[in-house]
Amino acid sequence: MLKKNVPLPLYYQIEEYLKQKIEEEEFEAGRMIPSERELSERFEVSRMTVRQAVTNLVNAGVLYREKGKGTYVAEKKIEQPLKGLTSFTEDMKKRGMTSSSRLLAFDVIEAPRDIREKLNLEEGKKVYGIQRIRMADEKPMAIENTFMPKELLPDLSEEIVQGSIYNYVEHELGMAISQARQIIEARAADEEEANYLNIPPHSPVLHIERKSFLAHNVPFEVVKSTYRADRYKFITDIDR
Ligand code: GLP
Repeated sequence: MLKKNVPLPLYYQIEEYLKQKIEEEEFEAGRMIPSERELSERFEVSRMTVRQAVTNLVNAGVLYREKGKGTYVAEKKIEQPLKGLTSFTEDMKKRGMTSSSRLLAFDVIEAPRDIREKLNLEEGKKVYGIQRIRMADEKPMAIENTFMPKELLPDLSEEIVQGSIYNYVEHELGMAISQARQIIEARAADEEEANYLNIPPHSPVLHIERKSFLAHNVPFEVVKSTYRADRYKFITDIDR
């Protein structure tokens, strides 16, 4: 029951109620929540109040609406620590999920200027241009555009990049990946990205650019990726 004599708005209390049901998995991912009418009767509040609570949770990515059908519980976001240089394959394994990739492109191209500068390559040098949709339990999570110097990895193949690139670099080639720099920006998905990620066009996404180094500060990859903002949150611990 809602408390009417406390300084917490009613819509906020309904949000907390719904979040608790989701947390306790009584309302599990993919399940339809009770209708606005049912909720307003149950809590004896106006439908407007219920709508505000539901809209707030839709905006926060906890629920999603399907036109003409109802409102459903969204999949829980992946909590990705911003510490530790890990690969997609490792991240998914740690969570007990199965990773896979859909390979959209595997080309050898003359490095575009910005990539060439980031990888410290001379003009005319070749790079791999690899585009993969990264999936967790067969659901698309991110699109990654990876650029790596051809000279450094002469035997890279389509087959290898269907699996883990980091595993290949470290365990097949025996090269140590030492550090990376990552930049994260918010954006709206364009039509193509939305299509690949299976989200409505213009949904929020996180654009992440990573430049990674081997030992002795040798850059070996520039990755421009687009992550689903409805499935990811990034966590960082900060000291003072
Ligand atoms: C993450 C990073 C990428 C990196 C990739 C390697 O997704 N954002 O920059 O290239 O991991 O993953 P894997 O070893 O699974 O190919």
